[in-house]
Amino acid sequence: MDIRPIGVFDSGVGGLTVLKRLKEILPNEDYIYFGDTKRVPYGDKSQDEIKKYARQIINFMKEKNVKVIVIACNTTCASIDKNDYDEILFDVLEAGSKSASAVTRNKKIGVIATTRTIESKSYEKNIKSINKNIVVYGRACPEFVPLVESGLAESADAFDKAKEYLKDLNMKGIDTLILGCTHYPILLKAIESAVNKDTEIIDPAIRLSIEVKNYLENNDMLSTSTIGHTEYFVSSNKENFIKTAKMLLNEDINIVNRIDIEKY
Ligand code: DGL
Repeated sequence: MDIRPIGVFDSGVGGLTVLKRLKEILPNEDYIYFGDTKRVPYGDKSQDEIKKYARQIINFMKEKNVKVIVIACNTTCASIDKNDYDEILFDVLEAGSKSASAVTRNKKIGVIATTRTIESKSYEKNIKSINKNIVVYGRACPEFVPLVESGLAESADAFDKAKEYLKDLNMKGIDTLILGCTHYPILLKAIESAVNKDTEIIDPAIRLSIEVKNYLENNDMLSTSTIGHTEYFVSSNKENFIKTAKMLLNEDINIVNRIDIEKY
């Protein structure tokens, strides 16, 4: 057994969709969540910038003595090399690639994600290494994260943008769509309204949380506590973070700590 917390991080509120899945399957664990609300969005930053941010956040997580770290940010997964770290890292992008490859029947998978994730071609490379016959169509959706971070996930703008972003993927005849950014499950209504009817929508966090559970079980690292606690940290703008977190997690979240992430 290991009572240390699980670290989870993202550029902002998106990783809360992953935290939600983790809490459902591992309710007795303690969590440290960090949202980099000062530097969001990551999707339009360079690879070097994201690498620097990841290093700082993982240093912060180490200071918090976490047992494993969940990278609840596809853009970070697409930008770093996990071999550069000694920590145990779980990767949402790898989980999404495996899920979608197992589900597609016509071998045409669509990925919607940030510009950085799409340009890295990480989903395509991962999926091709699982099954080289699968064709992957990517579409960057740069307006989605700002809409979510400003609490406008269900606005008319979000629905219009979803239509625009999904038009080409619908025409390609995809049967599976990966939500390749952890902010996007918050836009699910808009995305569902815009994608072709029978398309299977993949939230990578579902598989990822099962992988974390299996790992902790197999390595005798589950917590023995009867109720889990979460500590929240952000780098700025607590208000919208608290609002979204309350709505998503259905919890009374009042304490969110602000930290200077540049120090790490
Ligand atoms: N939620 C993140 C992802 O999964 C980052 C989005 C952003 O900050 O642009 O890619």
